[in-house]
Amino acid sequence: MSPRRLFVTTALPYANGNFHIGHIMEYIQADIWVRYQRMQGHEVNFVGADDTHGAPIMIAAEKAGVTPQAFVANIAAGRKPYLDGFHIAFDNWHSTDAPENHALARQIYLDLKAAGLIATKTIEQFFDAEKNMFLPDRFIKGECPRCHSKDQYGDNCEVCGAVYAPTDLINPYSALSGAKPVLKSSEHFFFSLSDPRCVAFLEDWTQGVDASGRSRLQPEVANKVREWFSVRTNQDGSTSEGLGDWDISRDAPYFGIEIPDAPGKYFYVWLDAPVGYLASLKNLLDRRGQDFDAYMADPALEQYHFIGKDIVTFHTLFWPAMLKFSGRKTPDSIFVHGFLTVNNGEKMSKSRGTGLDPLKYLSLGMNPEWLRYYLAAKLNAKNEDIDFNADDFMARVNSDLIGKYINIASRAAGFVAKRFGGKLGAVSADGAALLGSLRSQADAIAALYDSRDLAKALKETMLLTDRVNAYVDQNKPWELAKQAGMDARLQDVCTVCIEAFRLLTIYLKPVLPGLAGQVEAFLKTAPLAFGDAATALGEGHQIGDYKHLMQRVTPEQLDALFEAPAQAEQALVAPETLAPGGEAIAPTISIDDFAKVDLRIARIVHCEAVEGSTKLLRLTLDVGEGKTRNVFSGIASVYRPEDLIGKHTVMVANLAPRKMKFGISEGMVLAASHADEKAQPGIYVLEPVAGATPGLRIH
Ligand code: 2FM
Ligand code: ZN
Repeated sequence: MSPRRLFVTTALPYANGNFHIGHIMEYIQADIWVRYQRMQGHEVNFVGADDTHGAPIMIAAEKAGVTPQAFVANIAAGRKPYLDGFHIAFDNWHSTDAPENHALARQIYLDLKAAGLIATKTIEQFFDAEKNMFLPDRFIKGECPRCHSKDQYGDNCEVCGAVYAPTDLINPYSALSGAKPVLKSSEHFFFSLSDPRCVAFLEDWTQGVDASGRSRLQPEVANKVREWFSVRTNQDGSTSEGLGDWDISRDAPYFGIEIPDAPGKYFYVWLDAPVGYLASLKNLLDRRGQDFDAYMADPALEQYHFIGKDIVTFHTLFWPAMLKFSGRKTPDSIFVHGFLTVNNGEKMSKSRGTGLDPLKYLSLGMNPEWLRYYLAAKLNAKNEDIDFNADDFMARVNSDLIGKYINIASRAAGFVAKRFGGKLGAVSADGAALLGSLRSQADAIAALYDSRDLAKALKETMLLTDRVNAYVDQNKPWELAKQAGMDARLQDVCTVCIEAFRLLTIYLKPVLPGLAGQVEAFLKTAPLAFGDAATALGEGHQIGDYKHLMQRVTPEQLDALFEAPAQAEQALVAPETLAPGGEAIAPTISIDDFAKVDLRIARIVHCEAVEGSTKLLRLTLDVGEGKTRNVFSGIASVYRPEDLIGKHTVMVANLAPRKMKFGISEGMVLAASHADEKAQPGIYVLEPVAGATPGLRIH
């Protein structure tokens, strides 16, 4: 059989943060599959890249005071320790902002346009006049039209779960400037997914089979996708018939790729993101001196994308259609996985990714292959969610991986070295039968890897370790070693153990590449491939010295891994004494330090809402100076302006004036609040006991 040619990718992570455990899980899943294919002698190009474009990254860069290019370069620079640390062996890691991607995205667009599948439409959208930009839904906030919670996002309410359009928000404001957004129309470009050609192609592609007759999509994914052909949910929660056209453009300012012949219009990030798969591959092949177009034109080439279940639409509708109608090769399959939770916790969110910090894991000296083994033991070909459970992790690593597999080598290696000069001996019938039963499973285990049922592949392998351990327990090499005249049997039994260990190592190598490398050195054998299961080391083969191959995971390591950060830890000990109001008492200051702050009684002469801000009130204060002061205070969510007028309060009178968006603030009003607004909502402006007059100092 000639080797398969495979092009494999994982979803491209947004370049706005470090990897979290959810990314690492996907990369490990794909890496195991790729390593398996290579062990079968297949040719694989396995690539990734940073997904660099879009408004959120542009805005994050602006906040950080750097260019978007510098911002994403900084993120990219942090990728290597994760990938190397967990043995994730991409052949290339590239960027969607690279020249290859600009060129490919523009060409694909031009090809789609030539195919008559690009349309323009004028649409109305919220615009931030201060920032001079159209606002993505996530950057519009306001009051939920259903439950009236304040500060909800433009697309859905986090409190009651309502889904709506940004225009449904009550008192919408821009999360960027606080300004009230205005509706403005602009011409957008659309990919005509509703075109009958696209619909016919996608119905067939998503529900059909690949070249080898296998369903292109997992059954649960294909079923979900089928629903989208008959009905789709709109942004406002209403439904429409069939596939809708896809809005692929955004107006400047935008960090992205400019649309050909459309100055000021950029591709929406999701248009050029998957093109990044091709750009990364092209970059790799160019550097190797290989022809990208010829590679892609090979009818034997198979193309696979590993992704999470949240981005199925993009990969099963938009991406195959973009490729098809621009005259390119379409993916053979999309492999969808579920989410990872940690200790029954919440879903690994893209932005927070809390729970298990991959770099912390490595910095604690925890073995990356424990995690690879554990995740593989839980992953199958379905898009089910899986949970990382600390106790389960410890049990599987210590009892299965080390107790059942590593121990086979450690029980036999010492005798081979000490008693037989490191040489393997002849194997008698019972041992040969055992090894034969192990060898006969090679194809079944290979098939499980190929179909991405990693859990079953490991389960079958562990059942084989049980057989080998039963053989060891029956033959008791430690007793044979003490009996006179049993040398040949001892060498026979130990040889069977070592050979069994070699076979098991082949079956585990896609998951444990680092360990397999150590085993290859110990056994003095060339890098193991799947085909090596059919062979044996043979009588007289000299093995090397056995060094302990893997440590056990300890409860202390897991405790340290999940230890709450210092501040939260304090709160856990005694919340009421250590962290009153949600934060620890600040470090001690001297009376002189305190005297620097000039606190005065002020009378609220006037108070009004601030146009364009839902947070701020404008206060006019009399501190007995013969003139008033203008002070902004973030208390609009709890006080009505008219309720504050005439009241006395306390202000910091010697705070340097601050220039704010709405004017200069000449001081600060004192107000109390809990450190965690969610734990205890509310802001309480201080009010002196009756009798205090403006200008009195607080001593
Ligand atoms: O959801 C995400 O994190 C996207 N950055 C994935 C992009 S996958 C591909 F299309 F680039
Ligand atoms: Zn709501």
